[in-house]
Amino acid sequence: MKTATRLSLLKPSPIRAITDGTPPGAIPLGLGEPTWDLPEPARRALLRAPGPCGYVPHAGLTDLRKAVAAFHGATVDEVLITTGSQGALFALFQAWVEPGTKVLVPDPGFVAYPALARMAGAEPVPYALSPDRFRLDADALLQVLAATPDASAVILNLPSNPTGGGGDLEALRRVAEACVARGLLLISDEVYRDLHFGVRPPGLRDVTDRGVVVSSVSKGWGAPGLRVGWAIGDPAWLTPARVVHGYAVTGTATPAQWAALALLEHSEAILAEARAAICGRWESLAEALHEHLGQTVSPPDGTFYHFMPLPLSAHADPLAFALRLRDEAKVVVIPGLAFGEGGRRHARLSFAATPEQLREGVTRLAPYWRG
Ligand SMILES: Cc1ncc(COP(=O)(O)O)c(C=O)c1O
Repeated sequence: MKTATRLSLLKPSPIRAITDGTPPGAIPLGLGEPTWDLPEPARRALLRAPGPCGYVPHAGLTDLRKAVAAFHGATVDEVLITTGSQGALFALFQAWVEPGTKVLVPDPGFVAYPALARMAGAEPVPYALSPDRFRLDADALLQVLAATPDASAVILNLPSNPTGGGGDLEALRRVAEACVARGLLLISDEVYRDLHFGVRPPGLRDVTDRGVVVSSVSKGWGAPGLRVGWAIGDPAWLTPARVVHGYAVTGTATPAQWAALALLEHSEAILAEARAAICGRWESLAEALHEHLGQTVSPPDGTFYHFMPLPLSAHADPLAFALRLRDEAKVVVIPGLAFGEGGRRHARLSFAATPEQLREGVTRLAPYWRG
């Protein structure tokens, strides 16, 4: 047996190296998903499924497209329903990223971006985030863009996995203008935008409708297993992506789209509850960090991730440090290095875990930071 050559482009995720082999009783602060129940409207929608369960149009269930369009202040023909935002990213990259070109990705950034670029035959080129709070740094990005004449796409993630950092309107405007001027595909991944701590962070559509926003019900609406996401943008960008997505998976499962529609119809209450959940959990984490490590921390712009500075002694081999935390302290955290070289000095702690898990997790971690 011989795998296709393109498989060699995909490096195994270091996240798996940490999470596979998690010992029994370990506290899971490595999670990238909400841990609360699927909201009631989705559960009801799944139970009252009508008779036939047929295909729906490749662009998605029309009522769901309408609901997503209303949520984003877009028109229906600017919405493509996909299998999670990951399905949208895959389809957009395959449709628009020419082999041999380059894709600008945040560093540290979500692990799928470099892999998706490579699968499209392109090379990921990292751009740094701001050194203070790991937010979008327009100067850093534009400098890399200017030095990359063969770029075909730029990806933003606001707020960011793993850092929780967002970006301000001016930074977004400058990046959007540069991409529009060069005719590049600008994708803004905003899956965490509604998980904030009082002020909704800016998104790409606040400054332009010339790029593509991707999002999903996975984080804010608490339904990662439904696998429903979307891309919002000019149909000229979306139609080729729809063709790819159609051939790859035909469409997202129809019952999942019914459930997603029910979630979108109750967005206000569901998102408010999710925010209340992460605020409460953030407080538990912040209190525990203060009590056990004397740290005073402020919440991220959004997400349920705390990007925690590692002790100096862990900088040389953060993966080994995270494995020690997993196997000795029995707490799973993800080393920031898994998200790129820019994350070497930090670890990602997910506070989607329960308040009890957060308190116990920090108690167990503390000696490794103090010592
Ligand atoms: C930044 C970011 N984008 C996209 C995704 C993919 O999520 P989904 O396909 O469930 O929408 C994730 C999942 O963790 C993520 O963290």
